Amino acid sequence: MKQYKNNKFRIKNVGEEVTLYGWINKKRNLGGLIFLDLRDRSGIIQAVVRPEIDCYSIAESLKNEYVVALTGIIKERESKNPNMDTGEIELEVSKMEILNTSKELPFEISDNTTALEDTRLKYRYLDLRRNNLKENMLIRHQIMKATREFLDNEYFVEVETPILCKSTPEGARDYLVPSRVNKGKFYALPQSPQLFKQLLMISGMERYYQIAKCFRDEDLRADRQPEFTQIDLEMSFVDQNDVMDLAERLTAYIFKKVKDIDVELPLLKMEYDDAINIYGSDKPDLRFDMKIEDITNIFKNTEFGLFKTVIEEGGIINAIVAKNAADKYSRKNIDALTEFVKTYGATGLAYLKFVDNELSGSIVKPLSTEELTGTKQTLHLENNDIVFIIANKKSIVKASLGALRLKLGKELNLIDPDDYKLLWVVNFPVFEYSEEEGRYMACHHPFTAPQDSDVDKLMSDPGSCYAKAYDIVINGYEAGGGSIRIHNGEVQKKMFEALGFTEESAKEKFGFFIDAFAYGTPPHGGLAFGLDRLTMLLAKTENIRDVIAFPKTASASDLMSEAPNIVDEKQLEELGIKLREK
Ligand code: AMO
Repeated sequence: MKQYKNNKFRIKNVGEEVTLYGWINKKRNLGGLIFLDLRDRSGIIQAVVRPEIDCYSIAESLKNEYVVALTGIIKERESKNPNMDTGEIELEVSKMEILNTSKELPFEISDNTTALEDTRLKYRYLDLRRNNLKENMLIRHQIMKATREFLDNEYFVEVETPILCKSTPEGARDYLVPSRVNKGKFYALPQSPQLFKQLLMISGMERYYQIAKCFRDEDLRADRQPEFTQIDLEMSFVDQNDVMDLAERLTAYIFKKVKDIDVELPLLKMEYDDAINIYGSDKPDLRFDMKIEDITNIFKNTEFGLFKTVIEEGGIINAIVAKNAADKYSRKNIDALTEFVKTYGATGLAYLKFVDNELSGSIVKPLSTEELTGTKQTLHLENNDIVFIIANKKSIVKASLGALRLKLGKELNLIDPDDYKLLWVVNFPVFEYSEEEGRYMACHHPFTAPQDSDVDKLMSDPGSCYAKAYDIVINGYEAGGGSIRIHNGEVQKKMFEALGFTEESAKEKFGFFIDAFAYGTPPHGGLAFGLDRLTMLLAKTENIRDVIAFPKTASASDLMSEAPNIVDEKQLEELGIKLREK
């Protein structure tokens, strides 16, 4: 049995005889002496094979990624390598055994691989041999371990909930699983354990958690996978502050345990409306400033047609200032930024440069001196500042400038990569209006409690109701989100009504759940962290696939196992399924 972590040997172990196992990471033949880098999960140790020993010819035959057992004595190295943990010592080999050979690899096992991601995903088991991916898996493991430690001490019980569930409307599209026994019927894979965890509160479990697999058939992005993992929790007899306090202490515990980072508590709390107004996002990245400024008032009486029309139609004019960056933006760069904001619905991007006490730019001509001076003063312009301005309806202005802010922050290197900025975004709206559906939809889900003062407005003024909902935001990512739930039947009824459910349709969709609420439901609330996103943040990667052992591509397929795939006609027949012609 393997006894050692190869990476643990140091100068104090000199003289010990050991057998080490692992993969040949690199082989160098230096005038007779053969140097081997032996890799196991813990790291790399150098082994040296001298020409005079019996197994020298075996060493000569070794190739990268062969699996070997090397026996020998730990020796102090002549030329030490300060960049390696084990750089002061080496294993002087006396015996070796090849445990297995390896075909030539499709790509080199190296942190700086240039292999395409598709190739790495096809051979994911090889990709995982690379140090940086392996480190990410270890971080993920440490986060789960710290989570269990912390929650266990806080009276939480880990309970598993079903994967084969009933399809309930919860936001994204469901993954469906056909039932063989009940032909024509389908299970849905859970988008989250939301309903079950609330039922566990009704069961009297009081404090539940689960590291839960969730499935959502939605458009994928760099921080989204169809199959992802939540650290899901729910608590009884709590209010919003109790859940947030617990969740932020858990976050701080994870940061400290996994990365020895001190998170200062309590975290900053920002109103949802402020986050949108100031940062153009409900997940603001606070690692740099560049706030969105409302300059609509300056143009109240403007003669500039574009601004005038926007104001007349109830729109707004907002700006962001990139400090000391005017010289970095040529016409060509600004054209590219204009195209960028157009993807967020903006029709154009105006700009002003303030250089040597003079304003220049696309809208200097049509604006009055007063308006230009007003802009300069309101935005406190200094030499070499550049202002980007968007006029449109509010949602477009905020979304476009919010995205532009992030782009500029990156382009101008305003973000310290070692920095972590955590905050709560609170007071989300209860509803959002769906242009597509032509009605109000639940922002979170239909069981989220409205603020007490807004209960009576659910029907009459849905657009101005706020929820007891909160998101934890880290460096511009929504790392987690949750809410206090409705536990009062009357309020739930009003909520369903406001969402356009009739009593019947609500019963049909959520019948078992609504029934359960009639049997003594404690006040409760909870939250779910995205485990993958927490890992991305602590592993400092922007690609969610880097923190999942066997991830899916942007088109939701697994290039290694080739899932999804067609199935046998017989399997379909058993399920009573006939595929439609396209
Ligand atoms: P929500 O939908 O906000 O809430 O999800 C919680 C957290 O899960 C992560 N997340 C994802 N991560 C990767 N890929 C995805 N496709 C994906 N979707 C979500 C995010 C998000 O903050 N049941 C509620 C929680 C509750 O109210 O307690 C829920 O699922 O980090």
